[in-house]
Amino acid sequence: MRSKLAIQFGWLLLLLGRAHPERSGFDGPWTKDPSKFDNSYFLELLEGETEGPLKPPTDKALWRILSSATILSCMQRAVEAMCPGVVSCADILALAARDAVVISGGPTWDVPKGRKDGRVSKAIETRQLPAPTFNISQLQQSFSLKGLSMDDLVTLSGGHSLGFAHCSSFQNRIHNFNAINDIDPSMAPAFAASLRSKCPMHNTVKNAGSPMVPSPTTFDNTYFKQVLLGKSLFSSDEALMTTSGTKGLVSQFASSKEAFNEAFVKSMIKMSSLPGGEEVRLDCRKVN
Ligand code: HEM
Repeated sequence: MRSKLAIQFGWLLLLLGRAHPERSGFDGPWTKDPSKFDNSYFLELLEGETEGPLKPPTDKALWRILSSATILSCMQRAVEAMCPGVVSCADILALAARDAVVISGGPTWDVPKGRKDGRVSKAIETRQLPAPTFNISQLQQSFSLKGLSMDDLVTLSGGHSLGFAHCSSFQNRIHNFNAINDIDPSMAPAFAASLRSKCPMHNTVKNAGSPMVPSPTTFDNTYFKQVLLGKSLFSSDEALMTTSGTKGLVSQFASSKEAFNEAFVKSMIKMSSLPGGEEVRLDCRKVN
C-alpha cells in the first residue's frame, strides 16, 4: 500500500550506518554496505536475511501488512541507534505523516521539530479522540480542547483522502441508523448499498471495510468532492455538511485542490506545534 510505503520511505532515510545493540537490540550494520544509500535494507528484509529481534516475516505479503506500530518501532530503533535520546516519537510520527502525504502526491511542509513525548501512556485516553459517530458540536468541542478551530476541523478531515476504514467505523450509518431509517438518509443510496454489501449486518469477514475514497493512495481533494456527493464514510464526515460555515469550506476545497493543500499545510503545522510533552521516549509504546 502506498501510504505504508511512504512511512517506510521515511524510515529508509535513517538506515545508513550501524545499530547500537545496547539501545536498539540490533547489532551490526543495517545493510551489507552501510555507506551506500539505496533500497538494500528493504530487499534484505523482504528476503528475510536481516538478523535481530525484529526479523521480519519471510512472506512478502505478511511484511506488507505489518502494523504501523511495528513500523514505527523499527523507525525509532533506527533513529535511536544513530542519535540516542534526541528525536521524540511525536517528531518521528509527524515527519512520517508528512512524508506519507508527499509520497502520495500531496503538498510538503517543514515539520516543526523538538516536540516532546508525554510522560503518561494510558490506553483509556485514546477515548479522547473524536469518534466517527460524533456530530458537529461534539467535533467542535473535541478540536477546540486542542486549540483547533472549525476551519482546522474541515481541513484536517481531508486526511481522509488516504486510507481505509473498517466496517465498525461506519456501521451506525448503514444498519439501524435510527427509529425511522435503516440507512442514514444523507448517504447517496447506491453508495450506502455498496457499503452494505461489503459490511452486512452480521459481518464475518475479518478486516472488512472500505477505502476512504475511490483513490485512497492519492492525496488530493477527492474527499471533499465525495462529501458533497453524500459519499463519505463517517457521520463525522457528513457532519461537516450540517453548518453553513463548514459546508462552505467543504465546497471551497472540493473546487480547489490548491486551496485545500495550502490550508492542510497550515493546520498540520498548527497540530505539530501543540504544547505538552516532557521526554524523548526510548520506546514509543511506553514512558521511560
Ligand atoms: C475529525 C475527526 C476524525 C475522526 C472522527 C476520525 C475517524 C477515523 C476513523 C474512525 C478511521 C478508520 C479507522 C478504522 O476503521 O480502521 C480513520 C482513519 C483515518 N484517518 Fe481519521 N479521523 C479524524 C481526523 C483525522 C485527521 C485529522 C487525520 C489526518 C490529518 C485523519 C487521517 C486518517 C487516515 C489517513 C485514516 C486511514 C488510516 C488507515 O488506512 O489505516 N483523520 N479516521
